[in-house]
Amino acid sequence: MKEIVFATHNLHKTDEVRAILGPDYHILNLPELGCPDIPETADTLKGNALQKAQYVVEHYHRDCFADDTGLEVEALNGQPGVYSARYAGEGCSYQDNVRKLLAEMRGMENRRACFKTVVALILDGKEYFFEGRVDGIILPEQRGTDGFGYDPVFLPDGHDQTFAEMDATTKNSISHRGRAMRQLQEFLMRREQ
Ligand code: IMP
Repeated sequence: MKEIVFATHNLHKTDEVRAILGPDYHILNLPELGCPDIPETADTLKGNALQKAQYVVEHYHRDCFADDTGLEVEALNGQPGVYSARYAGEGCSYQDNVRKLLAEMRGMENRRACFKTVVALILDGKEYFFEGRVDGIILPEQRGTDGFGYDPVFLPDGHDQTFAEMDATTKNSISHRGRAMRQLQEFLMRREQ
């Protein structure tokens, strides 16, 4: 089984990615590696993803991939974007962010939004990037209790359940991170053939 580090402390994401990549890969996350929080100081998703992957390679000398995700809301000129994790301020909770988003969008007719994920992979010292995107709308109220982050207010196009109402398999099959991770998976599988 191939071992590869996923540079995240987020257990939700770890579970999602383990389910997507399947049993051929042993995915180690940052707590399992004993790695502290890695700074994310870039102003792009790609820059942050690369920063996290590079940190692991430099400090632990392991192959690694990292992801960074942003929610881009059309009527807010693409905000919160790369700042999605701390939209309501440093140290804020998922609920703080969702409440701020709903307050900012109160009364807005254009509710279009998308999630974008960039995955940076460093394998044998070389860098590779994969991207995934899902489009939808921001509901005026929260629905559902599963998932994390902005899931309770994001209704993906073509579906009548929010990400927080869907089971994990359905979310993974259409989500930004699912799409980016499947590209990563295809790339890894091709390399091993
Ligand atoms: P990260 O940098 O990839 O951790 O993502 C930044 C922020 O985007 C997170 O703190 C969440 O608030 C949000 N986010 C990322 N992925 C998802 C998702 O799959 N659903 C809902 N929110 C997400």
